[in-house]
Amino acid sequence: MKISVIGTGYVGLVTAVGLADLGHQVVGTDKIKDKIDRISLGDVPIYEPGLDALLKKNLKKGNLTFSQNMDDTIQAAEVIFVCVGTPQKEDGSADMSQIEEVSRMIAKNLNSYKVVVEKSTVPVKTSMWIKRIISLYRKTDVDFDVASNPEFLREGSAVSDFLNPDRIIIGVESDRARDLLVEIYGSFKDRILITNIDTAELIKHASNSFLAMKISYINMISDLCEKTEADVELVAEGMGLDKRIGRQFLRAGLGYGGSCFPKDIKALARIGEELGVTMSLLKEADKINAARVETFIKKLKKCLWILKDKTIAMLGLSFKPETDDIREAPSIKIIAKLLEEGAFLRLYDPKASENMKSVFPESENRLIYVDNPYQAVGNANALLFITEWDEFKNLDWETIKKNMANPIIIDGRNIFLPEDVRKRGFEYYSIGRR
Ligand code: UDX
Repeated sequence: MKISVIGTGYVGLVTAVGLADLGHQVVGTDKIKDKIDRISLGDVPIYEPGLDALLKKNLKKGNLTFSQNMDDTIQAAEVIFVCVGTPQKEDGSADMSQIEEVSRMIAKNLNSYKVVVEKSTVPVKTSMWIKRIISLYRKTDVDFDVASNPEFLREGSAVSDFLNPDRIIIGVESDRARDLLVEIYGSFKDRILITNIDTAELIKHASNSFLAMKISYINMISDLCEKTEADVELVAEGMGLDKRIGRQFLRAGLGYGGSCFPKDIKALARIGEELGVTMSLLKEADKINAARVETFIKKLKKCLWILKDKTIAMLGLSFKPETDDIREAPSIKIIAKLLEEGAFLRLYDPKASENMKSVFPESENRLIYVDNPYQAVGNANALLFITEWDEFKNLDWETIKKNMANPIIIDGRNIFLPEDVRKRGFEYYSIGRR
C-alpha cells in the first residue's frame, strides 16, 4: 500500500518513520524545503529518543523517502495521513488554515481513490469540512473517503508509543476506508477500536483534556496539602492504588505544558461553548494550571523576599524531560517573571537551551545559559528545579552547596526526598509536602 504523510513536524515525522518501520512504502512531504533536505539525509530536526536511528534504518531499507513535490506525493498515494499543525488562535480555538490548504491540494491532485486520514488533533466535525473542501475543489468525480486516526504519542517516548500503542482509534464512514486502515495497523489488530468519525475526533480531545484535568486536580490537592500536614505524594499514591483512578498523571508540580494539553483543553472548551454545552470544568482546570507558576514564584519570594539582583539558577527548561520542546513550558513564564523582578538568571537544560535562546537571548548582564548544573549554581541565592531530567537525580550535592551563595532549593517537580536534601545542609521546598 502506498502511503503519504503530509507535514514532517513532530507527529508527521514519527508517523512516517513508524509506518515505514511497520513495513509500508511511505513518502513524507512538507512545504518547507530545508526540512525535507535535512530529513532525507537522516538528520532529525527535533530531539526525540530513538527517532534518529529508526529514520536512518528505514531510509536505508528504501521504503521511506521524503519529497518536496506535494502534487506527485498526493497523486501516488492511496492513503494520505494529514499531519500539519493546528496552532491555537487567540480565542483558544484551533487555527485550521493548514488543514484547509492541504484539503485543497488533495482535491487538485485527486487522480484515484484515496483515504484522507486526519492525524493532527482537530476539533470534532473537522472531517466534514475536509470532505466538503475536497468535494468543492476536485476537478473530477473520483471517489475518496475521509477518516480520523488521532495521534496519542508522547514527546520523549514517541517512538516506543508508536511501536507499542495502547490503542489505535479509527474513525470511518465506509467499509473501504476501514479495511485499508485496519490493514495498515494489522500488527496491532487486538488494539484497534473502530468508531464513526465524530467519535474518533472527540476521543483525542476528550482524552487529553481528561489527563490535563487529572494533573490540575492533584495540583489543587497539593495546595491543600501545603496548608495541612498532608503529603501530596502519599495522597497521590493512596488515590492511585484505586484501579479506577490509577497513579499516572497524578504528579503534582508546575503543571502541564507542551504542544497538546494547554491547547487541547482550551480548544475543547471552545468547541463545547460553540455547540451550547457548558464546559466550566475544563476552564477551571486550565485556570488552576495557569496559577502554578505564580504559586511557585511566591515560594521563592518567601525564601529570598526581594528578587532584584539576586542570582537564581534554573535547572530544566523543556516542558518535560527527554525533549528539547519548550512550547508552553512553565520555564518561559518563570524566566519572564524573574527578569521582570530584576533577578540574574543562570539557566541549564540538557537539550532545550538552544530553543530557549530564541525566546530569551543571552544577555551577559542578566541571563546566561551554562553547560552543566554546577556552573548554573555559581554564586546562586537559590536553585530552582523546573523539569525532572534524570541527570538531576544524581548530582554531587557537596559541589552544588559549595558553589551556591545560599543553599536554598525549590523543587517544582518533587524530584527529591525532602529529608535527603535537608540532611545535606540545604533549605528545601517542594510541592504539596513539607
Ligand atoms: C500528551 C499526551 O500524553 C499524548 O497522548 C498526546 O498525544 C500529546 O499530548 P505530551 O504533551 O508529549 O503528550 O506529554 P505528557 O507526558 O502527556 O505530559 C504533558 C504535560 O503534563 C507535561 O508538561 C508534564 O510535565 C505534565 N505532567 C504530566 C504533570 O505535570 N504531571 C503528571 O502527572 C503528568
